[in-house]
Amino acid sequence: MALPSELAPLLRLVGERRARHERDAIARLVAGARDGHPGCWIDQLGELCVLALYGAPSIDAEREREALAGALNGIGLEHWIWKQRNAAGSYTYLHSSPSLREQRFMAREGELRFEIRCDPKDDFGVFPDAAAARALVGSLARGLRVLNLFSYTGGFALAALRGGATQVTNVDASKAMLTWSKRNAELNGVDFAVVPDTAQRYLRRLEERKAAGKEKHFDLIILDPPAFGVGRGDERILRKAWPEMLRCVAALEPAHVLLAFNDFAYRRCEPIDALVEQHFARGWELRWLDEAGSSLRDRRLLASSVDPYYAPPVFAHLATSGARPRFPGP
Ligand SMILES: C[S@@+](CC[C@H](N)C(=O)[O-])C[C@H]1O[C@@H](n2cnc3c(N)ncnc32)[C@H](O)[C@@H]1O
Repeated sequence: MALPSELAPLLRLVGERRARHERDAIARLVAGARDGHPGCWIDQLGELCVLALYGAPSIDAEREREALAGALNGIGLEHWIWKQRNAAGSYTYLHSSPSLREQRFMAREGELRFEIRCDPKDDFGVFPDAAAARALVGSLARGLRVLNLFSYTGGFALAALRGGATQVTNVDASKAMLTWSKRNAELNGVDFAVVPDTAQRYLRRLEERKAAGKEKHFDLIILDPPAFGVGRGDERILRKAWPEMLRCVAALEPAHVLLAFNDFAYRRCEPIDALVEQHFARGWELRWLDEAGSSLRDRRLLASSVDPYYAPPVFAHLATSGARPRFPGP
């Protein structure tokens, strides 16, 4: 059976965009509705290409494996993962070959190097939609002590060290992710501390130490939680943890804070701007940034999306009035 004809223009665009980048580059090739393909989010992570189709066109990927492999090969993709949302809301993943799951690649975002892995449960190792936020961290970091919460593979940590941070502490609940971040540190010739803990518990401990006069001070705190974290019950649902985490971060009085909001369902039902303003009321400058690092002029975009199937994260940068933001800008 042939692939649906509406796939042809999408694949052509992927092929054209892929040809513009170095083979080892990290790049978003297709960004959904913005590129005229609602629900299609396609990333190049070095040699690996991840094609996420949240809406139409949907195909029976298993049955169409050969036709799909031929079409993707035809546009120069050798290693790819096809991710498709099914009618029931679950995801199907198809790998270009069974051995791809075990493969690793090295990919670059500017001067930062990342180890890319191909098991979907690990999310591949880098989120291209946080590239501008990583650049922001790099531009702020000179001379700062940085706390990177929900550190994953250490992307923000690498950007901070590249930007001149004096030290970085990564906190993540997963030891496997912290080990991966250490391999990334090695790839980049840098090092940082890693703490296997939940962000909530670590922040509470910092607050207790501050109360006891034994504070470990951080100048820049990064908070980038997923929608669902580790643990059970409410502990897992990180939207419930936001108020307490924000209260703790503000109480620690860093010069800069970067907040990433990835959970679109939460953004739609909760006025997150009011929440942030409540916790960082006086003495803070607040800027909302979109995925590209541009200032969000219309706050309605916090709760709406151009793409009907997927909303990229938004970021809040808070700086104490004395610490001027130095964002490279659009
Ligand atoms: C979406 S990633 C964070 C993205 C990351 N900041 C980056 O730079 O790409 C989610 C990470 O949060 C971690 N995690 C989940 N629940 C956590 C918790 N309660 N405390 C700390 N880390 C948690 C996961 O292990 C995973 O590495």
